[in-house]
Amino acid sequence: MAPRDTTNLFPLHVAIIMDGNGRWAVNRGWPRLAGHRRGAERVREIVQACPRLGITHLTIYAFSTENWKRSTEEVLGLMSLFRRYIQREADRLRAEGVRLRFIGDRTRLEPRLQRLMSGIEKLTEGNDRLHLTVAINYGGRNEITRAVRRVARAVARGDLRPEEVDEEVLAGRLDTHDLPDPDLVIRTSGETRVSNYLLWQAAYAEFEFTPTHWPDFTSDELGEILDRFARRERRFGAVAAP
Ligand code: IPE
Ligand code: IPE
Ligand code: MG
Repeated sequence: MAPRDTTNLFPLHVAIIMDGNGRWAVNRGWPRLAGHRRGAERVREIVQACPRLGITHLTIYAFSTENWKRSTEEVLGLMSLFRRYIQREADRLRAEGVRLRFIGDRTRLEPRLQRLMSGIEKLTEGNDRLHLTVAINYGGRNEITRAVRRVARAVARGDLRPEEVDEEVLAGRLDTHDLPDPDLVIRTSGETRVSNYLLWQAAYAEFEFTPTHWPDFTSDELGEILDRFARRERRFGAVAAP
């Protein structure tokens, strides 16, 4: 695929709800975890395609604060996939210029996984070809609640006056404080809901829903979605240009 001219869209932040791994596997008579494994391979292809497609920021939803409701087997399987993804991909991501960060409440994750996460964040912090952010134990409401708690502490300490609390102050305490807002949110597998993803940040994002299950999602389909996105008119509450 030829590189796209996206100079007028920079920076381009795409956020993906990678859904449908379980159904993809069950449709084939396979265990759900087989779908998650295939899904992790998809992540590699999509990450590699981003710079060529003009995407500077990619944020992917890997595990929600609600996903703990799944069976212990599935939760443990997913956690071990994350661990292996980080261990296996570290060198490749560093070499490809990817800066990897995580959002979500990581205090509930295994200490060993937390250490790996901090390690790869440090290892890739000098990169800026692609900003890859993985949402693990992430929920928009949980993130906003934690941010409000930080603001409340600052007010209680006397470091901040209540009148000074504005959108910028709150956004500055979110896990995404150093990322631009997403321009486009894509959800695979045909579901048309946000499932607690980037509730604050996606206030003016465009949305695309595709019936494709995540393990079948390709960089070609991503390219088609980006072509549609480029033709959309974003108004941000203003009136369309005559
Ligand atoms: C998305 O696939 C991955 C995670 C939520 C971890 P699902 O596991 O939700 O797949 P479906 O929706 O059951 O098919
Ligand atoms: C959203 O998918 C979370 C992730 C993709 C990690 P879910 O499959 O958990 O969402 P619901 O339950 O269908 O809303
Ligand atoms: Mg799902």
